[in-house]
Amino acid sequence: MSKPRILVTRQVFPEVLERLRQHFEVDDNQDDALLGAEGLKARLADKDGALTALTEPVTAEVIAAAPHLRAVCNIAVGYNNLDIPALTKAGVMATNTPGVLDETTADLAWALLMASARRLPASERWLRDGQWQGWQLIQWLGADVHGATLGILGMGRIGQAVARRALGFDMKVIYHNRTHLSPEKEAEYQAAWVDKETLLRESDFLVLLLPYSAQTHHTIGAPELALMKPGAHLINVARGGIVDDSALVAALREGRLAGAGMDVFEGEPKIHPGFLGLDNVVLTPHIGSSSKATRMAMAMTAADNLIAALSGRRPPNLLNPDAYKELP
Ligand code: GLV
Repeated sequence: MSKPRILVTRQVFPEVLERLRQHFEVDDNQDDALLGAEGLKARLADKDGALTALTEPVTAEVIAAAPHLRAVCNIAVGYNNLDIPALTKAGVMATNTPGVLDETTADLAWALLMASARRLPASERWLRDGQWQGWQLIQWLGADVHGATLGILGMGRIGQAVARRALGFDMKVIYHNRTHLSPEKEAEYQAAWVDKETLLRESDFLVLLLPYSAQTHHTIGAPELALMKPGAHLINVARGGIVDDSALVAALREGRLAGAGMDVFEGEPKIHPGFLGLDNVVLTPHIGSSSKATRMAMAMTAADNLIAALSGRRPPNLLNPDAYKELP
């Protein structure tokens, strides 16, 4: 029996390809050039499955061009690049990679928070520029992290991992989420649920950890930024588009927010040009999950999902159970 055919849309670790080749005829893209909609349609025409990244919009049009497709396994926890209703309608299973990247992404949220609080990138650039003439009492004054109020918008697994780290900094932790954590979890993290307005008004550091969707588009726009505490810091490690980047640039420029740490951007890899001229924003290129171990675990998880899906087993991280058909 011939092996199912799959497309791997972006470069992956050789170990992942090796594992996939044990099960599939693999069309890889180790050159890592973006395929685009046309490339995706052409390469998926004869494929049974795909290992995708968040850079590939899997739209109804792409799905229609792939009549044999049975599974799309995204190497990401977020899956706003996948048209789930269209995949389900076409009977194509979709999966993501929850769980394996929570801690690493929480680490980066903290890295950005600390860097923003203590103005690390700007002071480092200044030192490298040869501008440091010596120690001064009043020099590069930042904000204290310890003892401050940490607000978390979106208290899923990553939000909770961020909250857990705050215990070591003696912070007051407040969060807003559609559902409340259990009283046991709230006690464990010493975190209190508050309404969104209170979260905006009281947080010294506000970390965003929402999934992106039409409903969460511009969750933080000009009106929300206006409610935030003067001198607060905003951290986005979730998805571009949750923040209205133009409004954030304006708030940072005015100095109403003291700083921001941004790992994701509207329309990335394009960056709002306003950010580039500001010293009070820390910018990283969507590396929330990017430790070697975690990126490997994400790709292997996606591969495991694809192997299960195309061998008739229910993939562990199935997003659209209606697309799963048990073999007779
Ligand atoms: C990365 O952004 C992910 O969703 O895993």
